[in-house]
Amino acid sequence: MARRFSGMQPSGEPHLGNYVGAIARWAQDQSPDHVYCVVDLHAITVPQDPAALRAQTLELAAWLYAAGLDPDVVTLFVQSAVHEHAELGWILQCVATMGELNRMTQFKDKSAGRGSVLVGLYTYPVLQAADILLYQTEEVPVGEDQRQHVELTRDVAQRFNSRFGETFVLPKATLPPVGARIMDLQQPDRKMSKSTSTPAGVILLGDDEATTRRKIMRAVTDSGSEVRPGPDKPAVTNLLDVFAAVTGRSPVDIAADYDGRGYGDLKRDLAEAVNAHLRPTRTRYAEIAADPGALREQLRKGAGRAQSVAAETLDRARRNVGLAG
Ligand code: TYM
Repeated sequence: MARRFSGMQPSGEPHLGNYVGAIARWAQDQSPDHVYCVVDLHAITVPQDPAALRAQTLELAAWLYAAGLDPDVVTLFVQSAVHEHAELGWILQCVATMGELNRMTQFKDKSAGRGSVLVGLYTYPVLQAADILLYQTEEVPVGEDQRQHVELTRDVAQRFNSRFGETFVLPKATLPPVGARIMDLQQPDRKMSKSTSTPAGVILLGDDEATTRRKIMRAVTDSGSEVRPGPDKPAVTNLLDVFAAVTGRSPVDIAADYDGRGYGDLKRDLAEAVNAHLRPTRTRYAEIAADPGALREQLRKGAGRAQSVAAETLDRARRNVGLAG
């Protein structure tokens, strides 16, 4: 099994885009070589309420276990519990260049319109590179919006290796076959997002079934009434992608079922499919979140396992750079 690493920010409740792009895939074919992380150090690159951040960190971990991550198989931990991330992050800041960071489209999007942009938001992709490289990662299962960050990681690793000697494995991003970029239900030209979507545009894992149904029934659609994917049908394509992701069928196949029927039928069935698919995860979440003591204990064990791998890689990187301390 290839070594996998991926992470998710506890900066808000997880949504269907996070689920399709990342969580559902993490829960598939699990192995002891797979490492997943709730990246709280990344979340503080924009201002967070401390109590809310602490709560959301545990809640996100609970969602990940609820979605099926098995703590006896994969390693799941909270980033700030493994200090090697911050330390390798610093070393890599002395390998990555400003030219590289200036090209990051996520930084441009996230900093646009903010009066005061934190330095950490700018150097964020370097911390992400440290996350990935600490575990000698081969595959990084993510959504489309993270592809550029994984490419940067590869470039930085390659430069480090050629300057200081073989230290890191070069990782690559892996994207889902459909749903690598789930769009906002109200603005199908923008991705579904924790930070920029309106509540009506985002389906949260924590939404109840009636809310999920209402949001899907009110999703914007395209002109015409034909149900088919295509560049002239961004809203319907998105609905078909979600449908495909939660049923394992192809969008074209699903569209064929709606030949001669309208958007209303599609939405009604999609709402049922999404609710049916998320039902076991939603039920388990309530059980897992009810026992924060057990949750903390699982995460602590995960951090121990993660640290034993991370410490070894960091040690090698420190020695290769010539740090004598
Ligand atoms: P984050 O927390 O924004 O998102 C977590 C994961 O969800 C995916 N995703 C989506 N996929 C499809 N459609 C969408 N609308 C959608 N929105 C989000 C993201 O691509 C991601 O896979 N920088 C990362 C967190 C991170 C990380 C890492 C990821 C930190 N270190 C190391 C991989 C490896 C982020 O902010 O993801």
